[in-house]
Amino acid sequence: MPAPKTSGPTILVTGGAGFIGSHTVVELVAAGHPVLILDNFSNAKPEVLDRLARITGQAIPCITGDVRDRALLERVFADHTIGAVIHFAGLKAVGESTEVPLSYYQNNVAGSLQLLEVMQAAGCRNLVFSSSATVYGDPHAVPIREDFPLGTTNAYGRTKIMVEDICRDLAASERGWHIALLRYFNPVGAHPSGLIGEEPQGVPNNLMPYLLQVAAGQRECLSVFGSDYPTPDGTGVRDYIHVMDLARGHTAALAALPGLDGAVPVNLGTGQGYSVLDMVKALSAVVGRPLPYTLTARRPGDIACCYSDPSRAEAMLGWKARFGLETMCRDGWAWQRSNSGLS
Ligand code: NAD
Ligand code: UFG
Repeated sequence: MPAPKTSGPTILVTGGAGFIGSHTVVELVAAGHPVLILDNFSNAKPEVLDRLARITGQAIPCITGDVRDRALLERVFADHTIGAVIHFAGLKAVGESTEVPLSYYQNNVAGSLQLLEVMQAAGCRNLVFSSSATVYGDPHAVPIREDFPLGTTNAYGRTKIMVEDICRDLAASERGWHIALLRYFNPVGAHPSGLIGEEPQGVPNNLMPYLLQVAAGQRECLSVFGSDYPTPDGTGVRDYIHVMDLARGHTAALAALPGLDGAVPVNLGTGQGYSVLDMVKALSAVVGRPLPYTLTARRPGDIACCYSDPSRAEAMLGWKARFGLETMCRDGWAWQRSNSGLS
């Protein structure tokens, strides 16, 4: 694709080589923003940058480094005119966070704190932060609205609530902050080119990456965690959202930031819940054969049902998810095939 013209101040994208970050970079470039990635590549491969260049038609500047490296961050703000930061960088595995909580507090909380300090000193007060539906814990009702009480049972979730709290306190203490706390539901799928996507290390924890590896013949069978939940078919229900819709949610949030005073939480979901078995059926249809699964015990810490009320995103950001389950599965499968070397 011909390189789109970019203009205006640079958008610093921490964690921009990761799953959601890389897709967001594609959308940012398409929307005409100059982009600078800062990533320590702890959970991303440098090849992503070549892929991004192929998709966007331009080389994306990237600094290899850590958000906890204060001198580096200060240099980034001194050397570039940063108009806003989209902060993806962090660790994200719920189970791992219970094993190495200090790494989670260090990366997610200390990293964000440092970023905010450097932004404050540089006079950059525009932030889009990657929060998560995990901040709602086990919700008392669905669909989940942003004014529902916060609470979570794991260290990862607590890091997200803590950073949200830090942002709220900061924005209350000083005028001029515009912070979107984007609470993502369950991102799946990939860029339609099949060039970028989610690449978990080791055994995938999440449903779709695991199921895609079953489809690719890399895993034998999906274990469905729990079939006795109070849901229509007994399996867990979630709000799966195409990562390209999620990515576009970030450009929408950036555009809306001047009108968001303080730190404003916004759900990014479709508003539609699907069960584990719905997902198995949808991906089986795209792959063209039934995917094997077995019903097993519940996974500790899981909740029955979680889906968003996305109306605030539409009202405040002018954003709405566009892609349905079939597109999520088709694009996820195209990525899995190319990444697994299948034809
Ligand atoms: P990811 O692991 O693919 O991307 C995170 C990126 O940040 C990686 O490229 C990693 O190398 C980088 N990184 C990690 N720690 C860093 C540090 N200290 N300094 C610099 N770079 C660092 O994860 P993702 O799925 O793209 O998630 C992005 C953000 O969205 C995370 O904050 C995550 O908690 C949040 N989130 C993800 C999901 C999900 O299901 N994927 C759901 C809700 C929220
Ligand atoms: N599941 C299975 N088998 C698997 C994996 C998952 O049956 O092998 C089920 C789970 O029990 C759940 C559903 O599939 O019912 C979705 O599970 P995921 O692990 O894909 O997603 P979660 O909703 O548990 O959690 C994810 C992220 C969290 C984030 C949350 C909300 O992992 O970090 O979405 O955004 F907080």
